[in-house]
Amino acid sequence: MSEPVVSIGREGEIALVIIDNPPVNALSQALRQELWAAADRLDADPEIKAVVLLCAGRTFIAGADVSEFGKPPMEPHLPDLVDRIEDATKPWIAAIHGSALGGGFEVALGCRFRVALESASVGLPEVTLGIIPGASGTVRTPRLAGVAAAAELITGGRPLKAAKAKAAGLIDAVIHGEDPGEDLRAGALAFAREALTRPLPPKTSERPVAAPEPGFWAEQESAAAKRAKGEAAPLRALASLRKAAEAPFAEAMAFERATFLDLRGSEQAAALRAVFFAERAAPRPVHLKGVEPKALKRVGVIGGGTMGAGIAAALRDAGFSVTLIERDAEALARGEANLRGIFAGGVKRGKLTEAQAEARMAGASFSTDYAALAEADLVIEAVFEEIGVKRAVFAELARHCRPEAILATNTSYLDPRAVAEGLSHPERFIGLHFFSPANVMKLLEIVPIPETAPEVLATGFALARALGKIPVQAGICEGFIGNRILKRYRAAAENLVRQGVAIAEIDAAMRDHGFAMGPFEAQDLGGLDIAFLQREGARAAGRNVPETLGDLLVKAGRKGQKTGGGWYDYAPGERKPQASAATTELLAPRIALGSPLDRKTIAERLVGEMAAEGEAILAEGVALQPSDVDLVEIHGYGFPRWRGGPMFATGRRSS
Ligand code: 3HC
Ligand code: NAI
Repeated sequence: MSEPVVSIGREGEIALVIIDNPPVNALSQALRQELWAAADRLDADPEIKAVVLLCAGRTFIAGADVSEFGKPPMEPHLPDLVDRIEDATKPWIAAIHGSALGGGFEVALGCRFRVALESASVGLPEVTLGIIPGASGTVRTPRLAGVAAAAELITGGRPLKAAKAKAAGLIDAVIHGEDPGEDLRAGALAFAREALTRPLPPKTSERPVAAPEPGFWAEQESAAAKRAKGEAAPLRALASLRKAAEAPFAEAMAFERATFLDLRGSEQAAALRAVFFAERAAPRPVHLKGVEPKALKRVGVIGGGTMGAGIAAALRDAGFSVTLIERDAEALARGEANLRGIFAGGVKRGKLTEAQAEARMAGASFSTDYAALAEADLVIEAVFEEIGVKRAVFAELARHCRPEAILATNTSYLDPRAVAEGLSHPERFIGLHFFSPANVMKLLEIVPIPETAPEVLATGFALARALGKIPVQAGICEGFIGNRILKRYRAAAENLVRQGVAIAEIDAAMRDHGFAMGPFEAQDLGGLDIAFLQREGARAAGRNVPETLGDLLVKAGRKGQKTGGGWYDYAPGERKPQASAATTELLAPRIALGSPLDRKTIAERLVGEMAAEGEAILAEGVALQPSDVDLVEIHGYGFPRWRGGPMFATGRRSS
């Protein structure tokens, strides 16, 4: 028999039910069963007056066990367990540390009280898995917090920190301190003793749902439909919440359960589950098991432009000390201003306090002298995309850095082997390809050269973990995984234009499919000149690169929003794309009179092209597994997460 996952302790007349089901106390069948048995046993114990529910390890219950979702539901079912805890003859008090998520928060909702450490959060992230809460989350939450707060929590899926959860009425007390085994335990016991001196509040299920303002549901439904773009779960969650507000408890529970089970078997939920597990597997690849990464504390960044400043910001956010090197005093001042600007933006958006922004800057130093990197553990180069400039930088680094320091390039298109040429210690060299804005985008492509030592590669993954990024290993080819697929995608979109499909129709098709932007408006935003210069470089090197429609636009001065026009026109100071007569005229000689395609066909064709390129990349060994291609597209290029990525969406991977 396997080890028990629930133990029961006692402090006078208060019982402590302690869950220990690593890694995250997910509600496996065994845990549900043992919690049920604990409720029975404690109900029968006349000496016990209250029950504190605590978890061992890093977190409170993180939710239903997602790995059980592909299997038939097994008794005891979670909604019944939540009811069982609520119906216990003694009040249960959930003592939360880490995260109480999904089914974990629903168990807490079944408890008569909830207390949490300041650092804890609570939430209902089910929509991010393509489902809705399935154990009363949509029915009990509005009874505590009202429908407006419940709608935000459930349709957005973002957890709330303890203080906000308390303000919303979702928890009863915030416990000060840090240690769950001491501070939380003591605080929860004190809370329980105090609670026993007062009459008990009603069970959550017996509370009414306050009626919202007139027009509330219509407003919520139209906003959610607009955001959803085909994603099912948020709208279905809202419908369940509405039911909770308008029908009796039991009827609302039945509605929630039916919706939950329906969505659990859906294609979207399968896609989101596959992404969930791929994301969790990515930071610790199997082939690096047992390889010790090198310790990282001090990191150098060369170049303080768009990428260098963003990378420096990401490093500071994660607590690394950073030294930024630029080519001269003027560029250095710009680099420093770029970094300061990123943190000021964080303050403006309420993500950082002034004091935190100052502390971020205080941990960065700025120099034009490579000697400042003598102690660096890692240096990331982000200078102009020119092989000569980059090689000169690495020659300086080889002279000034410790021989064990890891040297990395952020090149987008150059061959990292060529960048490393001439280095006497190529085993410490690696490509670390960040995405813009580097302090926001989650993807990090890690590109080893043949000489890269395994522990240097492992350090790339360790860095990604420290930065909270999703690492994907890529082999060497032009554009690695992401930009290579992007190139094929753009070429395929141009082909549709050549066949007579309207530019705006292609963008709309991709937006309808769930992308934040279509391929042409995205190019206008980023600028058409970068890819143009790259093609021109290849042409100058004697390679056969056929003319693209983008080339014609750039040659006519249409580089995108920054020049007032690219694929579209833009009114001065505006970002709204307008169909462009000038573009139509410029491209007319290349465009056939074709028959229009419907949007679904357009999107499926373009996603098919991405997947075909993904397949080629896999065949060449540039990507190691199909899920890596999907993670690159989702985290680097705005592919709709709920479609699972191009490989999943085209049936090239199932989980
Ligand atoms: N079920 C099964 N396994 C889970 C899990 C879950 N709900 N949540 C996490 N895990 C596993 C991960 O796969 C990982 O496994 P591995 O070590 O073998 O790779 C391990 O737990 C640790 O996970 P993380 O690396 O994510 O650990 P962190 O400490 O960084 O984060 C966390 C902890 C914040 C709890 C994070 O794991 C998380 O957000 N988990 C998902 C929570 C969630 O979505 N819950 C809702 C589930 S749906 C539900 O409850 C339906 C209900 O309404 C009926
Ligand atoms: P940028 O032009 O904004 O910044 C480059 C910076 O490097 C400038 O501040 C410049 O002064 C500095 N620099 C040039 N030569 C230098 C030298 N010898 N020593 C020190 N500093 C020097 O360019 P950006 O966009 O930041 O790109 C940098 C690198 O990142 C390029 O290799 C690019 O391909 C890559 N990249 C760019 C992405 C983007 O979206 N902009 C995305 C991913 C990678």
